[in-house]
Amino acid sequence: MRILVIGGSVFLGRAFVADAFERGHAVTVFNRGRSGPDLPGIPGIRGDREDPDDLSALAGQGPWDAVIDTSGQHPRTVGLSARALSGHADAYLFVSSFHAYADWPAGPVDEDSPRHPCAPDAAVDDVPANALKAGCERAVEAEFEGRTVILNPGLVIGPRETPGRLLWWLERMARGGEVLAPAGRDRPVQLIDARDVAAFGIRLLETGDEGRYLVAGPQGTETLGTLLDTCARATESGARLAWTADDFLLEHEVGPWTELPFWAPDQPAMAGAWSASTARATAAGLRCRPLADTVTDTWAWLRERGPADAPYHQGKTPLGIDADKESAVLRARHTRTDLR
Ligand SMILES: NC(=O)c1ccc[n+]([C@@H]2O[C@H](COP(=O)([O-])OP(=O)(O)OC[C@H]3O[C@@H](n4cnc5c(N)ncnc54)[C@H](OP(=O)(O)O)[C@@H]3O)[C@@H](O)[C@H]2O)c1
Repeated sequence: MRILVIGGSVFLGRAFVADAFERGHAVTVFNRGRSGPDLPGIPGIRGDREDPDDLSALAGQGPWDAVIDTSGQHPRTVGLSARALSGHADAYLFVSSFHAYADWPAGPVDEDSPRHPCAPDAAVDDVPANALKAGCERAVEAEFEGRTVILNPGLVIGPRETPGRLLWWLERMARGGEVLAPAGRDRPVQLIDARDVAAFGIRLLETGDEGRYLVAGPQGTETLGTLLDTCARATESGARLAWTADDFLLEHEVGPWTELPFWAPDQPAMAGAWSASTARATAAGLRCRPLADTVTDTWAWLRERGPADAPYHQGKTPLGIDADKESAVLRARHTRTDLR
């Protein structure tokens, strides 16, 4: 296939490019060349997806069998590329998110769950950030009716991860000592390796499937305990996990999801965080590697990369608890005999 990847130079997009290339497809990437180099040997077209002139020049370089859009965040921007490419590509695979579904993370979701009512031409400031992906999906569906593949990933990890949730945990475990962790160890997590998302998407395009698929790790098999133990083993630091109750962490203003990544407190608003159904994707061929393999590969990549240029962020919110704050919470925890 001739495949165009809009983006493709950072994390998930890069995994799509690598997988498609390994499978023998002719891949081209389109980006501004700001976020880092493209994969070696992959032809790149430079341009801005928000610039209609760049998009019409891009369309002139088609036709493509499929467009893969991993970088679309705003409905109007995604609408521009979908419109520009609709007569020049057979299919459009859009990487959305669990966030497209109105009930997530409060409740369990599947492909038939209601989406946020975000219009395909919604302006960024008019809707909550979490709802924007639903508008992006509609913008693609409007132009590629019956020729759309929507992937809704949950939390995606692996080498080169953005925003850096697993990277932060690995680096924290590598620093060793006592590590603040949200009790208990048997909390479920549902994480997926970017390479598995990409492999699934490419195979859907190869078979000509369309439709929407939730893509996430298997439900109910991995826990935060096994994840953090695996991080401790991989980093060989002897870190000791200080499992600490939700109430205590919240009392000390530790931020769920961000200061301790993957921590979804036991509260109604987060009750469905780790219970999305992946039945449809699994039936269509989604295969997830063991979490331990992802952790090991990511740690190997991190060691090769060295320290990050900038702190990790999720949007504007810093990821990972500040070291001084963590020490203060741990000290407070030691004064509580019931938590020892
Ligand atoms: N991480 C998670 O847990 C998670 C979960 C659910 C969904 N997702 C979704 O997965 C996707 C992950 O993205 P990624 O960063 O891995 O994708 P990527 O395709 O590897 O990287 C983003 C790409 O977009 C390009 N780009 C940005 N703005 C552009 C513009 N105006 N014009 C042209 N190109 C532009 C960047 O290059 P230049 O800057 O050089 O232009 C870069 O190549 C996102 O859509 C995210 O919402 C992630």
